[in-house]
Amino acid sequence: MTDPRAPIAAYWDAAADTFDDEPDHGLRDPATRAAWAAHLDGWLPDPPAHVLDLGCGTGSLSELLARQGHHVTGIDLAPGMITRARSKLAASGLEATFLVGDAGRPPGRPGGYDALLSRHLVWTLPDPPAALRHWVTLLRPGGTLVLVEGRWREAGDTSSMYAPEAHPLPWAGGVPARDLADALSPHVTELAVTPLSDEATLWGGPVSDERYALVARI
Ligand SMILES: C[S@@+](CC[C@H](N)C(=O)[O-])C[C@H]1O[C@@H](n2cnc3c(N)ncnc32)[C@H](O)[C@@H]1O
Repeated sequence: MTDPRAPIAAYWDAAADTFDDEPDHGLRDPATRAAWAAHLDGWLPDPPAHVLDLGCGTGSLSELLARQGHHVTGIDLAPGMITRARSKLAASGLEATFLVGDAGRPPGRPGGYDALLSRHLVWTLPDPPAALRHWVTLLRPGGTLVLVEGRWREAGDTSSMYAPEAHPLPWAGGVPARDLADALSPHVTELAVTPLSDEATLWGGPVSDERYALVARI
């Protein structure tokens, strides 16, 4: 039987070459890059922390974290994304560990990370509540979970973007902050949502849909 994750990996492999052309992906504009760096600095523990970047893509946020002095592990389903992430870090003279794998169930010992970060991943997971439950087990007591997510108006129905044999995606198109908070709150002790829709610099221009960061502690 075909692995239902294979069409998802194939889709992102095909997107990897041009992924960084989007302003919020490649962070090529110094102002956009600085805006993301400032938020990461505020959301994450002081460096050096052991941080897992879930669905790291081409490693743009991993690179900012490594530059801030964190020990970063990035995991992504698409080998093409991981190749680019490794190249990006090497070109910057920085070190991080990148793995091809399923961020819904990443490797790691219980309590082994100080922080987990994911940006724009949960919408494409087949079982987001199971992933959230597993992620908190990977954090040490007092550890931090940062989820940068949204409900993308322009995305439309993203459930059809992968091949038909891919898993159905309960949060296709994104998840409102309230729903993500409801799913996570039984597993964490503190939870705060920062709206990000009004920060055009983060996105390379104005956006009109819901974007936010949810920061939780266990
Ligand atoms: C919209 S991109 C976001 C990439 C990166 N987090 C960023 O913000 O630039 C979604 C990423 O999630 C990855 N992905 C999708 N499903 C995944 C899974 N189950 N495990 C690991 N990575 C996954 C894709 O390969 C892709 O790189």
